[in-house]
Amino acid sequence: MKLWGGRFTKETNQLVHNFNESLSFDQKFYRQDIRGSIAHVKMLAKQGILTEQDRDDIIRGLESILEDLDNGKLVISSDSGYEDIHSFVEGTLTERIGEAGKRLHTGRSRNDQVALDMKLYTRDEIDAIEALVKELLEELLAVMEKNTDTFMPGFTHLQKAQPITLAHHMGAYFEMFSRDRSRLKDIRRRMNYCPLGSGALAGTTYPLDREYTAELLGFDGPTLNSMDSVADRDYLIELLSALSTISMHLSRFCEEIIIWNTNEYRFVEIDDSYSTGSSIMPQKKNPDIAELIRGKSGRVYGALVSMLTTMKGIPLAYNKDMQEDKELTFDAIDTVKGCLALFTGMISSMSFRKEVMEASAKNGFTNATDAADYLVNKGVPFRDAHGIVGQLVLACIAKGIALDDLSLEEYKAISPVFEEDVYEAISMKTCVEKRLTIGAPGQEAMKKVIGIYKKQLEMDDVR
Ligand code: ARG
Repeated sequence: MKLWGGRFTKETNQLVHNFNESLSFDQKFYRQDIRGSIAHVKMLAKQGILTEQDRDDIIRGLESILEDLDNGKLVISSDSGYEDIHSFVEGTLTERIGEAGKRLHTGRSRNDQVALDMKLYTRDEIDAIEALVKELLEELLAVMEKNTDTFMPGFTHLQKAQPITLAHHMGAYFEMFSRDRSRLKDIRRRMNYCPLGSGALAGTTYPLDREYTAELLGFDGPTLNSMDSVADRDYLIELLSALSTISMHLSRFCEEIIIWNTNEYRFVEIDDSYSTGSSIMPQKKNPDIAELIRGKSGRVYGALVSMLTTMKGIPLAYNKDMQEDKELTFDAIDTVKGCLALFTGMISSMSFRKEVMEASAKNGFTNATDAADYLVNKGVPFRDAHGIVGQLVLACIAKGIALDDLSLEEYKAISPVFEEDVYEAISMKTCVEKRLTIGAPGQEAMKKVIGIYKKQLEMDDVR
């Protein structure tokens, strides 16, 4: 069934139908489409545009369609001839309830209808994604709480730099995903205005109550320009941008886990249940899930660039180009949801090899800065201290030992300023524990931050 056959004298070419149709993918939001129609019909009756009898028949019909679609009694097939989910629902409604079904679309266009459906759908998905990010944050916090004294090397240039703790490293990702969460909340707030009642582009002459439908559908109010309402896809661009950033964060984290999981590092071991094997090399246990999550960032970024490109040349108001918003947005949403769920599962089942991390921090001269700071505290200018410790490092490399293993004589041979207390000053514990400014890895500082994070999660609050 078509919604627009009247002024045509010929049938649509089959290839044109196939190219034009969106039912194959916009059926994804049949629930939102029906929900929007029910609100619309309630408002029409309240305004006296529709009789209460028609309203009740239509709502009953729509609810039966919803139920049958949910339980699979009614199947949306692509050869039904319907162009999109809007025609499908209206056509099926009229088949079921007769004449009254034809009154559903009074005072509405598919342009404001699709704008509404897409908003309702993405709003639901934003809530679902936010919940997944929150679960990941909870998992990260659990790892942090257990590891405020698990020493490991912190890196710059992928070279060991200074000692940190595992809690501190996880905390960096906590910050990233917290910002992601805050971005999702921002987008939700900004997009939460209802386009229904904007008509094709210029509103309608019926006395619609747009405040009422906005309220019924959980919006903060109606949108204020009917042309913008049917042509705005900014919220999708913002969402795809936020999803791209989440993907980028996941990808960075996966990259680290892949490195940490190698035989050379052995900082972590990905659980068997989250690894895969090789068809030829029996010894292999591969981090495929981490690699796939890293790889999928590409298609999410792709969706963002596609959407921006599709929108850039569209004159006001609605143009069919905008139908392209759906498949790529759906794909990006499904991809990121899958990645988040799998990533959280991988982290929660992964084991952290604390001894290996700590040994690695000890062997990499990560306490060299602290050795220089020791000299500074004894009055040596920092630039000289830097040079002295550089010489000590060279001597250690030649002997294959750590700074902690040099004898006091060896220290004194390079600078007489060194005393017995140097060992204490450059011990891993001191190096980390002395870093007590807020945001640093020292245990007391870290515990304060963990307390803040805990409260944020409890109160569902983000910065
Ligand atoms: N399938 C269309 C879309 O996704 C629905 C809106 C159709 N509107 C129109 N004027 N042809 O954009």
